[in-house]
Amino acid sequence: MTSVRAWTPITEADNIPTREGRAVTVCDQEIAIFHLQDRYLTIENKCPHKGGPLCDGIVSGTTVVCPLHGRRFDLETGMPVRASEPSCVATFPTRVEDGIIFVDLGGGHTGQEEAA
Ligand code: FES
Repeated sequence: MTSVRAWTPITEADNIPTREGRAVTVCDQEIAIFHLQDRYLTIENKCPHKGGPLCDGIVSGTTVVCPLHGRRFDLETGMPVRASEPSCVATFPTRVEDGIIFVDLGGGHTGQEEAA
């Protein structure tokens, strides 16, 4: 199966410091873009527990810790680190071209979809 990506330009890559996240609202959808050492990853910005702003969480490796109650999510898959926490967050394909971050908002998916 093939799919056509719809890349949306978001911001200059330099606007997100390494190991930090930033919230962006595009088409009524709030996403959080994280700058890891060598790449950028995007997830929905709303923690599935009680809506915590994941963009403000502490990044450790490829995970982010929700700033409200400490649930941890894998930024690559959106899956919770603890298997006992059932909810995950959507992830979105992200790339950088000529210093601009692009996100495919229509390409979002959750790790739970893949596991189903
Ligand atoms: S709102 Fe994120 S852990 Fe509770």
